[in-house]
Amino acid sequence: MLVLGIESSCDETGVALYHSHKGLLAEALHSQIDLHRLYGGVVPELASRDHIRKTLPLIHAVLEQAACRGSDVDGIAYTAGPGLAGALLVGGAIARALGFAWEVPVLGVHHMEGHLLAPLMSEPRPAFPFVALLVSGGHTQLVAVAGIGAYKLLGESLDDAAGEAFDKVAKMLNLPYPGGPQVAALAERGTAGRFEFPRPMINRPGLDFSFSGLKTYVLNTVNAHGGQGALDAQTRADIARAFEDAVVSTLVIKCRRALEYTGCKRLLIAGGVSANTRLRAALEKMTRAADASLYCPALRFCSDNGAMIAFAGCQRLLAGQHDDLGIVVRPRWNLETLLPVQPTGAASLTPCAGTP
Ligand code: KG4
Ligand code: ZN
Repeated sequence: MLVLGIESSCDETGVALYHSHKGLLAEALHSQIDLHRLYGGVVPELASRDHIRKTLPLIHAVLEQAACRGSDVDGIAYTAGPGLAGALLVGGAIARALGFAWEVPVLGVHHMEGHLLAPLMSEPRPAFPFVALLVSGGHTQLVAVAGIGAYKLLGESLDDAAGEAFDKVAKMLNLPYPGGPQVAALAERGTAGRFEFPRPMINRPGLDFSFSGLKTYVLNTVNAHGGQGALDAQTRADIARAFEDAVVSTLVIKCRRALEYTGCKRLLIAGGVSANTRLRAALEKMTRAADASLYCPALRFCSDNGAMIAFAGCQRLLAGQHDDLGIVVRPRWNLETLLPVQPTGAASLTPCAGTP
């Protein structure tokens, strides 16, 4: 089955063709970074308009790359949510119109399921069940995954997502949008241990996160050193390093706890922040010590892309799932409400006794 995937939930237009036997045939991505940089963050209306301009040309490009025609496509998957309503509607309307023209089924995919399944596009693939840490600009979630569509939320951020905290700290340090990779690069020049920032919520039971207090702590530290304009280069880098270390060790502690709680020996990470080198290294160390395995997406599939939507959509379309003729978008959408795709083996994920 050949599936066209369309991602347009935020500031990236991603399009891809995924074949159920041959794998990923073609992909194209347009980033809106230059468009939004001037404003220091994503402007929803500008995002929607740019998706309108870019989606069809990118679809033509992937068809050409794969030497396919529209009539070769067997199904279309688009991101139906969560995300910006206007941006989602662009992908949804184009997907629905092409589905009507090509007479093929169309399916709205959950953006975070796209992220979650992205590591399954390449070897080594984790067997089910596994624990997933989803870390993006909008979400920080720990999920017990018994199968495709069989998701149980173990914990999530009660306020800012990890990526959002990276982006806000970038602004405090006068770094351009999007801030995550910039903070990480600056942290490379920082001295570990000069500042010690709190690890939020590690002393409380449970698997929830909170990053907004840490963000305030960073702001107070910046102000205590005379404010953004007065920071010397080394202090800026040291603050970036302390912030990154605090986020990374908080995520590692909660992941270890989630593995212990579920008794599971497989941890998968996905979403934009999963590109972070220090996070990957720390999780690799933790999983090795716990006799567990870590699964990461290829770097180009960490942040938003069309391939993950084509892949996730392909799994569901193969199982016979598709939507009816409406253009459905869900700016807010609970991952736990998705339909399962195959027998789940949920029993094997029964948590161990006690609270996490
Ligand atoms: O998954 P994603 O592309 O979009 C959402 O679904 O939100 O994630 C984007 C987030 C942004 O907050 C960005 O700053 C962060 O991922 N990010 C990183 C890194 N690369 C991207 N954060 C930390 N370190 C990185 N290397
Ligand atoms: Zn995303």
